[in-house]
Formats: sequence, structure tokens, C-alpha cells
Amino acid sequence: MLSIQPMPSSSLLSQVDKEKLPKHIAIIMDGNGRWAKKRALPRVVGHEYGVKSVRTVAETAAKLGVKFLTLYTFSTENWNRPQLEVKAIMSLLVRTIRKEVATLQKNNIRLRTIGDINALPADALKELKEAMELTRNNDRMDLVLALNYSARWDLVQAAKDIARRVKRGELDVDAIDEKVISESLNTGNLPEPELLIRTSGEYRISNFMLWELAYGEFYFTDVYWPEFDQEALYKAIIDYQKRERRFGKTSEQI
Ligand code: IPE
Ligand code: IPE
Ligand code: MG
Repeated sequence: MLSIQPMPSSSLLSQVDKEKLPKHIAIIMDGNGRWAKKRALPRVVGHEYGVKSVRTVAETAAKLGVKFLTLYTFSTENWNRPQLEVKAIMSLLVRTIRKEVATLQKNNIRLRTIGDINALPADALKELKEAMELTRNNDRMDLVLALNYSARWDLVQAAKDIARRVKRGELDVDAIDEKVISESLNTGNLPEPELLIRTSGEYRISNFMLWELAYGEFYFTDVYWPEFDQEALYKAIIDYQKRERRFGKTSEQI
């Protein structure tokens, strides 16, 4: 008797249109804590399993041909978590970079950051700087970690930067336009993400890329971040590719 088999993974991949890939995918990786809680494990274990997803998603995105992958890793507001958890996340960051830098290099992936990284613990900063320096010339994909990042923080630092340039006489007030603001942001040399993914069934932006996502497509999934795998990424991209991006125009104009 014939039975209906679940769709093999290759058929999901075959639905991805390689010609219409988002150039930049940004992800709010959420649900590590709840994933752990569901298994009666400490939250930190959730973060550790979350690293596996980072590895899988970065590799899958690079293989597909995505050029920029930004991962919201630690927000400005995350400092308000219990100090033990903050410490554990920072230590995980150090260990992960140390362990993965060779793989990044092998896969020709450049590591970058957005956010106020100078306020990170010294060992994390050192590890990050070394990894960024080592992978500086890689050009297959940029893996951008948002660390001690929040969009409002970025807008404030951009406003200060612009004000200083005006004060020094380098910039005319009337020359301030969207391009000047975009370029003053930490994300200044990144294209705007076409696709934003948030895991764990939360439907909010949590102070992430408020400016850059003005016309981004949002994809929400109930999957907790530690369970977000290759297939989940394909699904998000397939969903994105079915959308019509109108940028204020009518459907007929597209
Ligand atoms: C995302 O998972 C990781 C970080 C924000 C650092 P959470 O730790 O927010 O997991 P939940 O939302 O509590 O389940
Ligand atoms: C957003 O997740 C920040 C990161 C993924 C790093 P949170 O779990 O901190 O967001 P809220 O608090 O639920 O909005
Ligand atoms: Mg969360």
C-alpha cells in the first residue's frame, strides 16, 4: 500500500529560487531559554544548543549564496538579565569564536559586528577583534553579529556623529538626508536586510534595525532557535520569495 512520505529535504531546497535570494538576511534568534525550560534544563544549555543553529544557518546561507547574514546575538537590553546568565553568554561567545574561527576561514566567511563592542568584556573583545582581523579578506559571505546592539543606540550614536560633523563645518544641515543617516549608522556599509526572521513565536522587533527594516519582509516562526535548522531556513526563504514587494506602488506597477 502506498503511504504518504514527508517531503524529503531536497525538495524544499529545490523550491528555493537561487536567482531571487535575499542578499541580506537578518535573524532575531529567540527562544533558547524556553527551549531549555521545556526540557527542564538550565537556560544556559539553551544558549549552547543555540550555537549549533548558528553554525547550521551560517553554513546553509553561505552555501545558498546569501551575501550577508546578521544575527541578533546580544541586545543592549540583555545586560538586564541575571548576571550569571550574562556571564555565561559572554563566556559562550568567547569559546564559540575561538572554536569556529577556523571554520569561518575555511568557508571564506568574513566575521563582522554591529553594536558597541568596546563595552563587552575584555576577553570577548579580544577574541572578536582577532577573528575579524583573520577573516577580513574573506568574500563569500559576511556574518555580522549584533553584539551590545540596539537600533535606538545606533540612531543616537549616528545623530551625535552627524552633529559633530556639522559643528566642525564638514557637513551642511541641509545636506542631511536619508543617505547621510544610513551611512552614519553602524550598519552603514551593509545593504538593508530584505528578510527578517524571528523565531520562538514572538511578534516584535525588540529594538532591532528600526531604520534598516523600513521595507524589510518579516517572517515569524514558532520554532525555538535551537531547533531552527536548514529546512527552517529554506522555508523562510521560500515564503519570502512568494511575496510581492511593492515599496508603496501598486501591484500593477511592479
Ligand atoms: C535568545 O533566547 C538569546 C538571547 C536573547 C541572548 P532567549 O534567551 O531570549 O530565550 P527565551 O526568549 O527566554 O526563550
Ligand atoms: C531579542 O530577544 C534580542 C536577541 C535575540 C539578542 P529578547 O529575548 O531579548 O527579546 P524580548 O525581551 O523578548 O523582546
Ligand atoms: Mg527571548
